[in-house]
Amino acid sequence: MTLEPAPADTRTAPWWADAVIYQVYPRSFADADGDGMGDLPGITARLDHLARLGVDALWLSPFYLSPQHDAGYDVADYRQVDPRFGTLADFDALREKADALGIRTIVDLVPNHTSSEHVWFQQALASAPGSPERDRYLFRDGRGPDGAEPPNNWTSVFGGPGWTRVPDGQWYLHLFDVTQPDLNWHNREVVAEFDDVLRFWLDRGVAGFRVDVAHGLVKHPDLPDWDGHTAMVEGTTRADGADPIEEHVPAPMFDQDGVHEIYRHWNEVLAEYDGDRMMVAEAWVEPAPRLAKYVRPDEMQQAFNFEFLIEGWDAAGMARAVENVMSANEAVGAPTTWVLSNHDVVRHASRFGLADPTHRPPGIGPDDEQPDAGVGLRRARAATLAMLALPGSAYLYQGEELGLPEATQLPAEVRQDPTFVRSGGAELGRDGCRVPLPWQAGAPAYGFSPTGASWLPQPAAFADHAVDVQEGVPGSTLELYRQLTALRRQLRLGTGTMAWADVHAPDEGVLAFTTEGVLVVLNASGRSFELPAGAELLLASVPDAVDGGALAPDTAVWLRLP
Ligand code: GLC
Repeated sequence: MTLEPAPADTRTAPWWADAVIYQVYPRSFADADGDGMGDLPGITARLDHLARLGVDALWLSPFYLSPQHDAGYDVADYRQVDPRFGTLADFDALREKADALGIRTIVDLVPNHTSSEHVWFQQALASAPGSPERDRYLFRDGRGPDGAEPPNNWTSVFGGPGWTRVPDGQWYLHLFDVTQPDLNWHNREVVAEFDDVLRFWLDRGVAGFRVDVAHGLVKHPDLPDWDGHTAMVEGTTRADGADPIEEHVPAPMFDQDGVHEIYRHWNEVLAEYDGDRMMVAEAWVEPAPRLAKYVRPDEMQQAFNFEFLIEGWDAAGMARAVENVMSANEAVGAPTTWVLSNHDVVRHASRFGLADPTHRPPGIGPDDEQPDAGVGLRRARAATLAMLALPGSAYLYQGEELGLPEATQLPAEVRQDPTFVRSGGAELGRDGCRVPLPWQAGAPAYGFSPTGASWLPQPAAFADHAVDVQEGVPGSTLELYRQLTALRRQLRLGTGTMAWADVHAPDEGVLAFTTEGVLVVLNASGRSFELPAGAELLLASVPDAVDGGALAPDTAVWLRLP
C-alpha cells in the first residue's frame, strides 16, 4: 500500500509540513544565573547546539509567570515572563537569535486552565456565586444535603477529586491540580482574552503555538457523572472495561465537538499574520480519525500523533500506528507528525529497555524494574532513525539527542510533579524525564548551571552523556542525530510519500518502508535479518548494525535502493 500524506510538494508546502521541531523544557535546558532552574538567557547562550543539531524550530514549554505548581503549566499571567526564567527582553533576544540561526520559535499556550493565582481566579473567589467573575470558570453548586457533595464524580487527571469547594459552598472544576481551575470556554471574555494572548505572541514574532490539553476546553454541557479515569501517562480507562477505540464515545470532559469551533476561530487569527504560523494540538484523542478532525484545513496545522509513541518498541504496533494516522490525516489533507518522547512520558531510551518494551509506566522509581540502558538506547536510536524518515514533521525532546535515560533513582523527597502527591505516590510522575541536561562531564551540574545547583539531582550516568563527551565522536548518539537531520534534509525525507517495502514483515518484527528512493528497515525481531542484496548503506543506527549483509537485532538502517 502507498500512504500519501498531503501536501507532498516541498516547494509549495508550508515550512512545518516536514519540520524537525525540538522541545526545550526551560526549567532543565541551561541555567545562566546559577539558581538551579534553567532560564531564557541559558537557552539563548546554547542555541548553537540546536543549530548544529539541524532542527527547523524549537518549542518552548511554558516560561510565563507562574507559581510552578505544575512546572509552569499553571499560568498566572500569559503575557509576562516568570522572573525565574527572565524577562520579555530575554524572550525577544532568544527569538531573534534563533531566527538569525534559521530556527523558528514556537511557544506553549495553556488555554484549558489558569493558575489559581491568575487575577481572574482571585476575582472569582472574591465574587458571589452567579457573578460574571465566576462565570469565567466552571463553578457549580454541590449535590446532596447542603451541597456538600461535588457536582459530579469526575477525578483529576493527576489523581484525587476533580472539584474543590470554596468557603461560600460552591465548587470549581479542575481537571488537573487544585491550583489549575478550568476555564469556561462558553464565556465571551475568555474567548476574547485568548485572541489577545495569541496576538501578543504573534506580534512578538513566534512561529506558532503548541496548544496544551487541546481536547479539554469544552466539557459536555450536562457535566454528567463518568466512571472512568484519565491518567497523565496511561490514558483513559472506562470503569466498565469498554474499549474507547471501539466505541468512539469520548469521556464527557474531553474531545467534545465544541472544541473545533475554537480552533476554527484561531485559524482565522493566525491567518492575519504572514509566514505560515502554526498550531500543534496536544490532544490525547482516540481513534485516529477523531484526532484528524483537529487538523482539518480550517483548524490547526498539526496534532501530536501519540499513537506511534504509545505502541512502543513493537514493529507490528508501529506499523499499525503509521497506517492509522497517515490514512486518517490523508482523509483531511494534513501531513502527520511523529514523536517518541516529551516532558510527560518516560524517555524512550528507557521505555524500550524494559522487559516489556511496549510498557509505559507512569514514572520509574528505585523500587521498580530498572530498564536495561544499553538495550534501551540501542532500540531508541533505531526507532528515531525510522521516525526521521517517515513523511511528515518530527518532534524531538531535549536530551534524546544525547541518548539520555530516564532518571530512575529519584528519591520521593525531591519529586515535584503534582501527580506524585495527588496520587498518594501511586504514580511516580514525570520528574524522571525532566532532569537538567548534561553539557560538560567535568563541570558542576555537568555544565547545566555555573554554581552546580540543579532543581532535580542529575544521575551520575549523565556524565557519560554530556555534550562535550559526544562532540565529534563517531558513533555517539549526538553525532548520529546530527547526521540524521542533515541527511534527512539532503534526501528530502519527511516530504513525499511512503510505501511498505517488499521485506516489510511487521508480524515477524521487521518494519520496512520506502520513501524518496530510500529503503528504511528496522529490526525489532530479536534475530538478525537478511537485507536485500545490492543496496547501499546510507546510515545505520549503530556502527555495527550491518554485518555480512544482515541487520543486527535492535537496529535500523537507511539504504539507497539499487
Ligand atoms: C499537558 C502538559 C502537562 C501538564 C498538563 C496540564 O498535558 O503537557 O505537562 O501537566 O497538560 O497543563
